Order: sequence, then C-alpha cells, then structure tokens
Amino acid sequence: MAAMGDMVTELITTAARRREDPAADVLSELTNAEVTLDGVTHRLDDTELAMFGVQLVVAGNETTRNAIAGGLIALAQRPDQWQRLVDDPTLVPLAVEEILRWTSPVVSFLRTAVVDVTLPVPRLDGAAPDELTIAANDPVLLLYGEANRDPIEFGDSADLFDVGRTPNHHLAFGFGTHFCLGAALARIEIRVVLEALLAQGRMPSLVGDVRYSPSQIIAGVEFAEVQFLPA
Ligand code: HEM
Repeated sequence: MAAMGDMVTELITTAARRREDPAADVLSELTNAEVTLDGVTHRLDDTELAMFGVQLVVAGNETTRNAIAGGLIALAQRPDQWQRLVDDPTLVPLAVEEILRWTSPVVSFLRTAVVDVTLPVPRLDGAAPDELTIAANDPVLLLYGEANRDPIEFGDSADLFDVGRTPNHHLAFGFGTHFCLGAALARIEIRVVLEALLAQGRMPSLVGDVRYSPSQIIAGVEFAEVQFLPA
C-alpha cells in the first residue's frame, strides 16, 4: 500500500511538471490530451491521470512479464514443444496464443452486473444447457484461467501445452468492450522473446524449482532459475 501511495504521488507530481513543460513521453501525451465525453471536452485531472498511470504500469507490466516467464517455464518443461518451434518457426504466432492461454496472466477480475441476465451454461455431457441467472448488482468473479482450461472449448487436450494449437479461442485478454487495450503490444513482446531465442539457437532449461506468487489476480512467477542452453 505504501509503494502504491508513492507511485500515485510520483505520477501526480510528474504530471504537474509535464503540464507546464511537456516532454516526449506518455505522461505528457496523457496530461495534454483532450477527452470529449457526452459533448464536453476536458483534460484528465490528477485523479484520472494517476488512475490511468497505475493502470498502464500494472496492466502493461505484471501481465507481459509473467506471460513471458510462465511461457518460458512451460517450454523448458516440454523440450518437445521447443523443438517444434525450432523445426518450424512459423508456429511462433500460434505458440504466443498458447502461452497466453496456458499462463492466463490475469487470473481473475471482479465485475458487477448492471442488468439482470440469464446465460446458457453448456454441459460437458452434451445435454441441453443449464441456465444461470445473474441479477443486476450481483458481483461476478471472472475466472480467466479457469475458462482457458475449459474442456468444452478446448477438448481433451485442454490441460496440454500445445504450441501448434488451433483454433485457440482463449480469453486471456477478456472480451467485449473492455477487451485488453494492450493485447497487440503484449503479443509482440512475447513473439519477440521467442524469435530472439530461436535466432540465437538457445533453448530454456529449468535448473531449479519454480515459485509462484500468491495472488488471486496475477499469475506471477516469483522465482525460477532458467538457463538458456545452446539448442
Ligand atoms: C499478456 C499480457 C496481458 C494480459 C493477459 C492482459 C489481460 C487483460 C484483461 C483480462 C483485461 C480485462 C478485459 C475485460 O474486462 O474483459 C485487460 C484490460 C486492459 N489491459 Fe491488458 N493484458 C495484458 C497486457 C496489457 C498491456 C501490455 C497493456 C498496456 C500497455 C494493457 C492495458 C490494458 C488496459 C488499459 C485495459 C483496460 C481496458 C478497458 O477497460 O477498456 N494490457 N487486460
């Protein structure tokens, strides 16, 4: 909480400086951007800037680095999957999607229903779907990681890491109006790491235990000792 307080203070003071003296950076763009909402144009105030800054720092950092770390651990644990990428690097874009599905860096988010909805809930045995009713104002916990292992969507191989998986309709970036703003950047980051390792002829190899961080929101890798061996 103290670190979060420091981060917000830093964002607000830097934003105030950038308002007076813009530089070539994201905060200057945000500070000086004009937002039109319901016909009214305004600039982001300090609270909005701080919230958006925190959003970018957390959303764009915790997620991608844990996707990359988790993906490299998965590949280190399955040298056959790494070999498939060596043999056929055109699989890299599919591997990126599988890493996103497999690691599901955002484990869950809590949302609040704004209207009453009734949803069909498919059944594993193929019988007619059950129905689930969610009332307006109900809290709804979205379990992205759980959805990404759903045997109804991914079949018998849902629990297998398959760098050639297609189709792969994972929900790692959510869906609908709030679909992840940084999805394209995140995909590039993961692809660049894979391509760089393949170009260098290096393969990830685990040399110790993996420790995950205890969080209900981010699937974080706290510690993993990995060597990059000549493939
Ligand atoms: C592997 C990497 C990433 C994953 C797994 C991820 C996941 C998600 C998820 C699950 C959501 C919520 C979607 C929903 O409510 O349906 C989200 C929203 C968002 N993400 Fe990401 N994200 C990633 C990378 C990034 C990056 C790199 C950025 C920015 C640089 C970013 C910025 C955002 C923002 C701003 C939102 C809110 C969008 C909105 O509410 O309209 N994310 N992300």
